[in-house]
Amino acid sequence: MKNIAVIGSGTMGNGIAHTFAQFGYQVNLIDVNNEALERAISTIGKNLDRQVAKGTITEADKANTLKNITNFTQIAEGVANADLIVEAATENLELKLKIFKDLDTFAKPEAILASNTSSISITKIASVTNRGDKVIGMHFMNPVPVMKLVEVIRGYATSDETTAFVMDLSTKLSKAPVEVNDYPGFVANRILMPMINEAIYTLYESVAGVEEIDTVMKLGMAHPMGPLQLADFIGLDVCLAILNVLHDGFGNPKYAPCPLLVNMVTAGNKGVKSGEGFYNYAKGIKEAVVASKFSK
Ligand SMILES: NC(=O)c1ccc[n+]([C@@H]2O[C@H](COP(=O)([O-])OP(=O)(O)OC[C@H]3O[C@@H](n4cnc5c(N)ncnc54)[C@H](O)[C@@H]3O)[C@@H](O)[C@H]2O)c1
Repeated sequence: MKNIAVIGSGTMGNGIAHTFAQFGYQVNLIDVNNEALERAISTIGKNLDRQVAKGTITEADKANTLKNITNFTQIAEGVANADLIVEAATENLELKLKIFKDLDTFAKPEAILASNTSSISITKIASVTNRGDKVIGMHFMNPVPVMKLVEVIRGYATSDETTAFVMDLSTKLSKAPVEVNDYPGFVANRILMPMINEAIYTLYESVAGVEEIDTVMKLGMAHPMGPLQLADFIGLDVCLAILNVLHDGFGNPKYAPCPLLVNMVTAGNKGVKSGEGFYNYAKGIKEAVVASKFSK
């Protein structure tokens, strides 16, 4: 099995393409947006340069990795010869259902269809195809070439063969796969998002300020980054969307998003990507300062 197609060449898609290509797979990278494809190749080049500088790969490895990636703007062409397709397009249910219907039409009948979704039900995605047994979640973490974990999500209809195949393939990419079942938030976000939400409630109730909350979790729990800064990096809109999936999916009030998070997203404060969240990134990430409205 050598041919992989990756749908979406954004933050995650370029990392997934990079990783497969580095391990010798032929990757067709597909995006509707040609500029996104060009940006992805440039990002992959820069990330490979960093690996060369660190001595983890050679210049020849870099050249081979780039040679293994071919860009496409049409799904039908890009997936035709693929044995495995990893979808990493924008997190939107209707969009993903449309993409998976297309994949079912254009991919080889035996091809496995994986989604990198953070929160959408794999069972629901599989239900629009005629090959539910071959649909699975392959949830890579950001940045993909660096992070070891792949959360492998079994939908209700996913077969043992498909699961075993994807677990084995993930280890061939030097990743550590963990098999989980398909329930809202899977494991990673079911645990992470309530922690972030609780950190936001702690701020909302003026128990402590932004830096104090992040410092407690960094120094006290050995987290590499505090939960509020992590939320800024993930995107506050993404955190809100995932909390809503947990809240709707379980119907349990413990997942209700904090009103402060709702207000911030409504006001356009989405974290790093909008320039301001709990920290202000106007001067760049290294110089981010706590937004004055949150200082105690
Ligand atoms: N960013 C993260 O930290 C992270 C982590 C884990 C999983 N995810 C998941 O990965 C997926 C992608 O997230 P991202 O952060 O890379 O998003 P992104 O916005 O950076 O990239 C999405 C890309 O999908 C492309 N796209 C949209 N519609 C398309 C279509 N019909 N066909 C092909 N390409 C299309 C867009 O042009 C864009 O380039 C989402 O499902 C997200 O939940 C994200």
